[in-house]
Amino acid sequence: MTSRITPRIEINLEKIHHNTKVLKKLYGEKGIEISGVVKGVGANLKVARTLVEAGITSLADSKIANIRKMKMAGLKEKLILLRTPALSEVQQVVEFADISMNTELEVIRALSTEAEKQNKIHSIIIMVEMGDLREGILPKDAPSFIREVLKLPGVKLVGIGTNFACFGGVIPTEEKMQEFSQFINEIQKEFQIKLPIISGGNSANYTWMMNTHDPGLVNNIRLGESILLGRDPVSGTVIPGLYSDAFCFVAEVIESKLKPSVPSGVRGRNAFGESISFEDHGLMRRAIVGVGRQDVLVSGLSPVLPVDIIGSSSDHIILNTKQIDLKPGDEVAFSLNYGALLSVMTSPYVYKTYTHQASKKYSLKRTSA
Ligand SMILES: Cc1ncc(COP(=O)(O)O)c(C=O)c1O
Repeated sequence: MTSRITPRIEINLEKIHHNTKVLKKLYGEKGIEISGVVKGVGANLKVARTLVEAGITSLADSKIANIRKMKMAGLKEKLILLRTPALSEVQQVVEFADISMNTELEVIRALSTEAEKQNKIHSIIIMVEMGDLREGILPKDAPSFIREVLKLPGVKLVGIGTNFACFGGVIPTEEKMQEFSQFINEIQKEFQIKLPIISGGNSANYTWMMNTHDPGLVNNIRLGESILLGRDPVSGTVIPGLYSDAFCFVAEVIESKLKPSVPSGVRGRNAFGESISFEDHGLMRRAIVGVGRQDVLVSGLSPVLPVDIIGSSSDHIILNTKQIDLKPGDEVAFSLNYGALLSVMTSPYVYKTYTHQASKKYSLKRTSA
């Protein structure tokens, strides 16, 4: 029987610190600073402080509530709002964010007016669309857009950014990145300005960064997944020398029985509106762990033990435990992808615990450098 609380996410701060330092050095060698993106952990303050201890000087999140949380906790680093603000958030954005990323003139005008009210100058980064088709102004619209922005007294244009592989899966290739730098060059020439921040992307830029001989004008990249999970999201592989297991999700067995593998009776849709098909494997050793879709993005979990996830409902995950005889009270550990991490870190039902060493129990791994 376990005496520890479940479900829980075990967070290894030392591994996050290690990943941050390695990435900071690698990007630094190419003249690129890292902004630490903490939305994947709901701006968890222990994680944010770990990034700072590892040398990160700007922290970014997509939620103004998280920016506010970090500001109120006394973090002195630059706090960047990653997502273009909603008009309804403008007052808080000016109050709590040092910089916000923007794509709409109407919003920037509102930020300017609010900043004047608060006796501040609010810094903004304009996001430019380079093909991934999520946020950003089109490059052809940039000159007229920037001309308008430069007229506004309450905002200061401190940078231009772009984003890749978040919606369309567009990869930041050498060609794309050069196109971006060329675009920045033209803008700076046209307006006779030198922007301090040229933010060229996110964790998806890892392969480009490692291989490029000329990062162009890019001097900033915003990293979440590669710091937290040690992964290159484009290839899905672990970055050499990084820990991919800084987070471990632990759930507890609440039922374990030998049961048929196929439901019996007249079948319709389940509680989630799904019609699931089943293969008959005869009797199956099945265990239920006491967590479900209310707590975690189940499709983003991978059991550390050689057991399979058969399915889930709001509060149950059903496992085929195959050769393993699990009993109520046993703990089952899972690794997580970014989506699963986001869900557990924002779930009030999942306890957050902190470790500094790899637990022997779950055979955690690190790739060789
Ligand atoms: C604008 C922006 N920049 C950077 C990131 C960080 O992305 P990643 O976690 O892939 O590094 C995100 C997503 O979280 C984002 O929306």
